[in-house]
Amino acid sequence: MSSFSNPGHYILLFSLHGLIRHRDVELGHDADTGGQVKYVLEMMQSLSLRPEVARVDLFTRQIKDKRYSSDYSQAVEPINDKSRIVRLPCGGGRYIRKERLWVHLDEYIDRVLRFLKHEPYTADWVHGHYADGGYVAMNLAEYLGIPFVYTGHSLGRPKLEKLIEEGLNDEVIEKKYDIRRRIEIEEDVLEKTDRVFTSTQQEVDEQYGSYQNHPLANYTVNPPGLDLHRFYPYHAQDQINVLGEEARAALLQELRRYFYEPEKPLILALCRPDKRKNISALIHAFGQSSTLQSKANLAVFMGIRRSMDEMEEDERAVLQDALMLMDHYGLYGRMALPKKPGFQFDVPELYRIAARLRGVFVNPALTEPFGLTLLEAGACGLPIVATNQGGPVDIVRNCKNGILVDVSNLGEISEAILKILNDPDAWHQFSESGIENVRAVYSWDSSIQRYLDRLVAEPQSSRKMVSAGRKENPVARKLMQVERMVILDIDNTLTGNSQATARLMDVLKAHREKVAFGVATGRTIDSALQHLKENEVPLPDILITSVGSEIYYSGGEFRDTGWTTHINNKWDRERLRGLLAEVSFLQPQSAETERQFKISYFLEPDVQHLKTIRDILSGAKVRYNLIYSHQRYLDLLPQRASKGKALRYLSFKWNLPLNRFLVAGDSGNDEEMLRGEPYGIVVGNYSREMEVLRGKWRVYFAKNTHADGVLEGIQHYRFLEILNEK
Ligand code: GLC
Ligand code: MG
Repeated sequence: MSSFSNPGHYILLFSLHGLIRHRDVELGHDADTGGQVKYVLEMMQSLSLRPEVARVDLFTRQIKDKRYSSDYSQAVEPINDKSRIVRLPCGGGRYIRKERLWVHLDEYIDRVLRFLKHEPYTADWVHGHYADGGYVAMNLAEYLGIPFVYTGHSLGRPKLEKLIEEGLNDEVIEKKYDIRRRIEIEEDVLEKTDRVFTSTQQEVDEQYGSYQNHPLANYTVNPPGLDLHRFYPYHAQDQINVLGEEARAALLQELRRYFYEPEKPLILALCRPDKRKNISALIHAFGQSSTLQSKANLAVFMGIRRSMDEMEEDERAVLQDALMLMDHYGLYGRMALPKKPGFQFDVPELYRIAARLRGVFVNPALTEPFGLTLLEAGACGLPIVATNQGGPVDIVRNCKNGILVDVSNLGEISEAILKILNDPDAWHQFSESGIENVRAVYSWDSSIQRYLDRLVAEPQSSRKMVSAGRKENPVARKLMQVERMVILDIDNTLTGNSQATARLMDVLKAHREKVAFGVATGRTIDSALQHLKENEVPLPDILITSVGSEIYYSGGEFRDTGWTTHINNKWDRERLRGLLAEVSFLQPQSAETERQFKISYFLEPDVQHLKTIRDILSGAKVRYNLIYSHQRYLDLLPQRASKGKALRYLSFKWNLPLNRFLVAGDSGNDEEMLRGEPYGIVVGNYSREMEVLRGKWRVYFAKNTHADGVLEGIQHYRFLEILNEK
C-alpha cells in the first residue's frame, strides 16, 4: 500500500458468503445466494460509476469446488476499470454454508492484509455486509486505522427468536446456526462501527433495537436502489424490446388460461410461498367480497413456483392452503395460481400487464422487512395495497403510491383495493406518484448519493473511531510498506551489554523507515516492555512474547487476534497441566509466567526426563509444542505456537518473504526461528543447545557477544547495505 494520495475514494466492500460473480448471478441457488448478493453487486457497480470514486472492490470468498463454476475460483474478476470482485480463500476451497465460516474469518483478514500490500491506493473506508463481512471489516479497520461501516442485511437476535418460536430446541439451533457466536459478533460490530446503514427505520428500531449495544451505534436509513432499466413504467412503450414483447405475449396467454374475463383489472400478488407472507388473507378477502370478484381477477404468483410435488414441505403447505381456499370460495375462472411457465418469465412485464389492466398490487404480509416488490410495482406504475407493518410504511410515505392496511382486518384489505379500482383519478395519482418517487428515492444513483454524502461530508471528528471502542494498530501501515524486518531475542541477545544495545539501536534507527524492528521473547508482554524500558530500547514495532504464543504491535495494546485464533486450535491447557501435575522432576515456574497459551516449568537437563514427558503427552494424544531453553526452562505451547512459527505467520500476514527477515538469538527457544530462509545469527554468548545449528544454511555464529554479535551478523550478511543500494 503506497502513501500516494488517492485520485478519489477507494472503498472496500466485504460480503463473504454465497456464490458471487458478475455475470449470470445464481440468485436463489441456495439460502446464501440471494438478496444480499444482488445488493452488494449493484452497490459496487453503482459506486464505480461515480466520478468521486476511484476504485471499489468487492471482497468475497474464493471457492475451488468441482461442484461449482470455476468462475468462483477466479482470484480477481474485473468488472469495469474501477471495480473488481476480489476472491480470497479461507477455510479451504470447498463451498460451505455461511454458518461454517466463522472459524475461518481471521484467516480471511490476514489474506486481505496480504492482498492490500500491493495495491496502489490506501482504502478510505471498509464496509462489512452481514456479521461475517462485518467481523472482517471491523478488524481491518483497526489494522488500517480507517472508518468502518456496516450493513447487517439480517440479524442473529431476531432470527434466534424466530427459531425458538418455531419450536426448535437450543441444541439444534446452536449446532445448525452457531447463532450465539453471530450475535456476539454483531454486538461487537455495533460497539465499534462508525455507522450502520439500513434499508428501513423498522430495522433500526425493532431489529437493531434488540441489541444491547444498539445505543452505541449511529444509524442511517438508506434504502438500496432498484434496477430502473428493468422496472420502467407501463406506458413507456419505446423501452420494450423483442424479448420483452415475447415475454408479455406469453404471460398474457398464460393468464388467459385461468380467467373467464381476462380483460378485467388484475389484483396481483407476488411472493415466496412463506406462511408469513399471509397470502391466505388476500384470498379470504377476495373470496368474501362479491363486489371485488365482479370487478377484478386475482393472480397469485408464489415465487415462480415449481411443481407442487417438488416443493419443500412448509412451502407446499402454503400452496395447499391457497388451493383449498380457492376451492372453498369457488374462485375458478377468477383466480390464478400459476406455476413456473415454460417460457422466459419476466417479472417487470407482469407488473406492467397488471398496470395496463388498471389493477393493483397487494402485499398482505404480517410484517415486511423491506418490501422490494412494492417498489418494483411502483416503478412500473402499478398502485399498491400493503401491510402497515415494517418497510411498506417508509415506502408509502416516500412514494405515495398506494394504501396501507391492517392485514388482520379482511374488510380493510378489500375496501382499499376497491377504493383504487373504482376511482380512476386515484388510480392514476398513485400510479404516477409511484413512477416518479421510486425513481427519485429508490434509484441506485440516489442511494449512492446519500451514502457518499453521509460518509464524505461528515467531518472526520464526528466519526466514532476517534473516541470509542475501536483501537487502531499504530504500525500496520508501516508493516505493509517495509522491505525488511529484524526480529531479535531480548535477553542475552538484544540486552546484556548496554553499550552494545545502544550501538545496535542506532543502526536500526537509521533504517527505521524501511526496516521494521521486532523482538521475540520468552517474557510476558508486561515484563518485556518493562525490561526494554529499563534498557532504553525504543518501543519495537512488533513484540512476539511468551515464547511466541502472543503477538503485539507497538506496545501491549494491540494484540494480534488472528494469531490467537490460529494457535488456539486443539489447545487444552488444563488437560496438559493435569497430565504433568504428578511428574516429580518438573517444577512449575512462578504464576506470572503462565499464560493462556503457555505452561512453564523448571527442568534440570536430562535426556531421559524429556523423553518421559513426551511419552506421557503423546500417550494421552494431546497436541502440544515443547521447547527447552537454557538447559533450564521448559515451555509447553499449542502445537502451532513458537517464536519460529510466529515469525512465519508475520511473514505471511505482512506479505514479506522470509528471506527479508534477519533473526538473532542465543538459546533454545530461538532455535526454530533461526532455521531456514531468514538470515540467522547466533550471538557469541549462546547457550549449549544452540550447537545443533552449527553449519546450517543461513545461520551465522558471531564471535562477538550480545548486541555486538547481532551487529557483526548484520555486517556479515550486508543485510542493511542491500537496502542502500536500491
Ligand atoms: C523466559 C520466561 C520463562 C520461559 C523462558 C524460556 O525466561 O519468563 O517463562 O520458560 O523464557 O522460554
Ligand atoms: Mg535469550
